[in-house]
Amino acid sequence: MSRASARACANLAFVKYWGKRDAALNLPINGSISMSLDSAHTTTRVEIDPGLDVDEVWSSGEPAPRAFASRVITHLERIRSLAGSATPARVQTSNNFPAGTGFASSASGFAALTCAASAAFGLRLSRRDLSILARKGSGSSCRSIHAGFVEWHAGQDSDSSFATQLADAQHWNLVDLAVLVTEREKSVRSSDGHRLAGNSPFWHSRTLSIASRLAEVRQALLKRDFHRFGREVEAEALEMHAIMQTSAHERGGGWQSGIYYMAPDTLRLINAVQRWRRAGMEVYFTLDAGPTVHLVCLEDQFADVLDAVHSLEGSQGWRTIACRPGPGARLLSGSDPA
Ligand code: DP6
Repeated sequence: MSRASARACANLAFVKYWGKRDAALNLPINGSISMSLDSAHTTTRVEIDPGLDVDEVWSSGEPAPRAFASRVITHLERIRSLAGSATPARVQTSNNFPAGTGFASSASGFAALTCAASAAFGLRLSRRDLSILARKGSGSSCRSIHAGFVEWHAGQDSDSSFATQLADAQHWNLVDLAVLVTEREKSVRSSDGHRLAGNSPFWHSRTLSIASRLAEVRQALLKRDFHRFGREVEAEALEMHAIMQTSAHERGGGWQSGIYYMAPDTLRLINAVQRWRRAGMEVYFTLDAGPTVHLVCLEDQFADVLDAVHSLEGSQGWRTIACRPGPGARLLSGSDPA
């Protein structure tokens, strides 16, 4: 019985992946830039077991919910067919952070699954090939293959759409203080949100300006220009949410003017960040497809930012997770990909 375990970190996008040009292959409309998050990770063990009739998927020690299990099995199928195998496997996975609250659990999950399953099935893949393969499971997971600061190149086709490392984890002492203002799960999955993005009247203008935003964020990051970086990153998050909030669609027989991933406390915190900046604190925010606010600052401001969050009225029910630039996906047994 062959088995392998792997661990991968979630990642925080500074330039967002929102909108696909091919939903089956998860080919994005635009490239994106992210940081791997050291304290939010998924650990996955894959055991190939000829004694099983069908694949088994376990999440935190329980049988996984059906929708999640079927996504995992579809991905296992991809890896099995690459390896020329037909043997079922048992997948056991767990996150050290809550899913569905603005941490991209599918990113760490599919990166860890790709690494563990390809090793268990005897495939020796480069990080580039792991990134392509992980992307097919969940787009943002292609970035979690790499350590530190990462860029996903939109590419021309499946083989050219993968992530590469922009700078290693030591390059810059950025901190992401994730503030989980509610642990309620989001009501619209990001795969549905991606599909609806083109309904927004602002979509076309994003497609025209995204190349210059990518260039700005890449340069600011490489030069460690926090002032320029923070402004672009915050504007980018609000641009994505403007598109989300204006992606009109029919849902359950009713017309929806758009998708709101923010909760009331998300807005309270955004307002506080703007106040703190006027008072001289260098902190910016970004958001993903959920209510969690990611406060981005440099290490020397971190203690002040944390104090400021804790001193906000009503913050007692919030959970905070501080993340620094983290490692890439890695095998916990056996040798790591090149
Ligand atoms: C808002 O990677 O979860 O976090 O490819 O359908 O699995 P699928 O989507 P997913 O989308 C992530 C969207 C985002 C922005 C980002 O991470 O770039």
